[in-house]
Amino acid sequence: MILNTSVRSRISLNGGWRFLVVPEGNTSPESACEADFDDSGWRTVNLPHDWAIEGPFDIKLDGATGKLPWRRQGWYRKTFTLPATDSGKRIFLDIDGAMANSTIYLNGKKAGGRPYGYMPFRTELTELLNFGGENVLAVHLNTAKWGSRWYPGAGIYRNVWLVKTHPVSIGRWGVHIQTPEISDREGTVTLDVTLENRSDEPVSVRVQSMVYEYGPDAQPGKVVGKSASCTLSIPPEGSKVAAQKVAVPSPKRWELTDPQRYLSVTEVFVQDRLVDTFLQPFGFRTLDFTANEGFRLNGQRVAVQGVCMHHDLGPLGTAFNTRAFERQMEIMKEMGVNALRTSHNPPAPEVLEICDRMGILVQVETFDCWRWSKTPNDYSAWFDEWHERDLGDIMRMARNHPSVFMWCLGNEVNELESPEGIEIVQRLKSIARRYDTSCPVTVGSNRPQASINGFQKHVDVFGFNYFPAYYDVFQRHEENRGRPFVGTETASCISSRGEYFFPVFDDFRGRPSGGYPGRSACGSDDVDEKISRGTGGDFQMSSYDVGAPGWAATPDYEFMMLDKNPAAHGEFVWTGFDYIGEPTPYNDDMTNLLNFSDPEKQAEMKAEMNRLGNVNVPSRSSYFGIVDLCGFRKDRFYMYQARWRPEWPMAHLLPHWNWPERVGKVTPVHLYTSGDEAELFVNGTSLGRKKKGEFEYRLRWNDVCYQPGELKAVAYKNGKKWAEDIVKTAGNAARLSMSADRVRIAADGYDLSFITVRVTDQDGTLVPRTHNTVKYTLEGPGEIVAVGNGNPNSHESFQSTERRVFNGLALVVVRSVKGRCGTVRIRAAAQGLECAAITLRSGMGVETSEKNEK
Ligand code: GAL
Repeated sequence: MILNTSVRSRISLNGGWRFLVVPEGNTSPESACEADFDDSGWRTVNLPHDWAIEGPFDIKLDGATGKLPWRRQGWYRKTFTLPATDSGKRIFLDIDGAMANSTIYLNGKKAGGRPYGYMPFRTELTELLNFGGENVLAVHLNTAKWGSRWYPGAGIYRNVWLVKTHPVSIGRWGVHIQTPEISDREGTVTLDVTLENRSDEPVSVRVQSMVYEYGPDAQPGKVVGKSASCTLSIPPEGSKVAAQKVAVPSPKRWELTDPQRYLSVTEVFVQDRLVDTFLQPFGFRTLDFTANEGFRLNGQRVAVQGVCMHHDLGPLGTAFNTRAFERQMEIMKEMGVNALRTSHNPPAPEVLEICDRMGILVQVETFDCWRWSKTPNDYSAWFDEWHERDLGDIMRMARNHPSVFMWCLGNEVNELESPEGIEIVQRLKSIARRYDTSCPVTVGSNRPQASINGFQKHVDVFGFNYFPAYYDVFQRHEENRGRPFVGTETASCISSRGEYFFPVFDDFRGRPSGGYPGRSACGSDDVDEKISRGTGGDFQMSSYDVGAPGWAATPDYEFMMLDKNPAAHGEFVWTGFDYIGEPTPYNDDMTNLLNFSDPEKQAEMKAEMNRLGNVNVPSRSSYFGIVDLCGFRKDRFYMYQARWRPEWPMAHLLPHWNWPERVGKVTPVHLYTSGDEAELFVNGTSLGRKKKGEFEYRLRWNDVCYQPGELKAVAYKNGKKWAEDIVKTAGNAARLSMSADRVRIAADGYDLSFITVRVTDQDGTLVPRTHNTVKYTLEGPGEIVAVGNGNPNSHESFQSTERRVFNGLALVVVRSVKGRCGTVRIRAAAQGLECAAITLRSGMGVETSEKNEK
């Protein structure tokens, strides 16, 4: 069914921009804002675009923000024509996100801009346009004046649209939908429709809303309800809100397993002529945040199995790509994730659409700081002037999405323990209430004191960043009766995929927090000499999942505290995916200090930081991810899967079994399983059956002596065989193999195929310690847009046709070419190895969900 949306149009403005990044030390060409500026020497790029991901990496730049050259000034220019027939319409430029401090010019005149780089913002162009002629847009960005604790990316990194409306139309995010009553028989939908009249006459408008079924393919189905039509008179240059109500019989709920949605279609008529049609998807769901019985979605208890994620898309940088984010969520869902915290800023609008569609709850976060800064030039500089508008816009963008279930008003803000903190949170909460009353507000608090000092009374759900030992203290505090809480940030376990260091530190169970000794023995070839608690040489972290910074904890400890405190609503693990920047513990700056309020701990960290400051630390991305930067699963993926998907039969052994230097040496074996018991066999000999004890989340055989061959675990659940895993010693590296997440992609110039490259022995077993360089060639209508391998220290470019594998794996990302269908063939070759190839098909209207990889 095609709805009449002809009055309003939204055209992508992503294609064909001229771009210049101002080299360090050069002055920005200020005349680039002029219409007649000669930009013919500039590059042409398509948006979304992140200029910094191109690199090069610079070891001297700070690791906290990724060692990439994002601190610069940049210019984007685009020339476009508008037909004379558009004259009389209102024309807007909608930028979903530009990093940062943007100024927008049209035909040489300043038209708008926005400091906060995560904001979607609208600029009205109507008055400055040449209708029937050429127009020049120029966008200036300045990230040199932007403070961040992680890699923020740089550029117009989200989608850009040109929106045309009648002078009488519905405003931006102009339909606010609420579902105040939901029963099996009927659901009530209220729609507050903001109508704007930009004509110089008063107008009488008639408004009516319909509700349609709305399938997962985002296509409207049949009409299920209709409002009465109402008529309003709007003064010239004025605006009014029309209140509409629709009853929907037998509403289907938005559930995590079956995320049903509806579509409201609001039509606006002036003298019986249709002037605007506004589509707004929404859903029916109820949210209850209880003090003693956790969180309930549609009346059913749901444990929040969440992950925090920064906005970068690994080797693709921050340039938003729908498929790249969807793939991230597919991998997270496979692990059992049901919630996302958009740390520490508002997401791209498509993130919310995808989470709506996939049944993932979203905690929308707003700011990483308030008035007190964390890093020079951060949002604190803008807070006073902009917080009201920014918060309001974030909420108006996100509030109709059924996936959105909580607002996080700040992350670890420094005001937490001060009276100013209370004053600000009260203010933010009162602003938030103007826009939404259906979801609670929280703040991610890393100061346990704030859970008992009065601050906690000003949020609806208390958010603990770490300190799970306080879950109990919080509940016992007499003023906290009736107050719900959630782990807004948990664990922070750090590891590198496929790296294991010996001896293995083994008192992680039950310890309140992790802790790692300083960097040491780097560059040493003797693995045994490397540090036990998880840090290793070459700036890697052990994948035995035993390392966590001082403020944090292992997953085991967090699970235990959640199990001991069943009133908790669940957790958001730091983090689902690795992200660019913040390579704790190998930060070479002072970022870590921010995580400690204790002066003694701060001093200790400062000494450590000073020590690190004297060496060239290569680390440029995080070790926190449960999967690496490429989306390859680290071991603890299976630890979370075992807990979050207990009915999924699964067993996962670690480490790999290729240790020629360890023959006869103790090499502990750990098993993550959704079973409750398991037996381990080494080369066919049983090492005994072990049962998980109370608060035990992994099984360990600590005395295994390494011999090459085969490790096999047989897991049991309730006494019955449940799952098994086998890890074999691989032979010599002999060949490459390739597999794609999707072998059919859409020829739209955005769609992606993520191809995993493996180094295997002759029999196809992954050779786990290989680092061969792989070269790619591509034929057909496709482009290699990124390569990666998940090594947090690699300074090889993400934009190349070759890449070393890291511990046996590498990734190559192929993008379709708009309008060009056909077969795309990618070949991978490495010296001394049999090469591999894979064929993709890029087409129009193809079924793009075909997969050949689990
Ligand atoms: C938290 C902070 C995050 C990240 C994390 C690392 O304190 O909110 O942004 O820095 O620590 O553990």
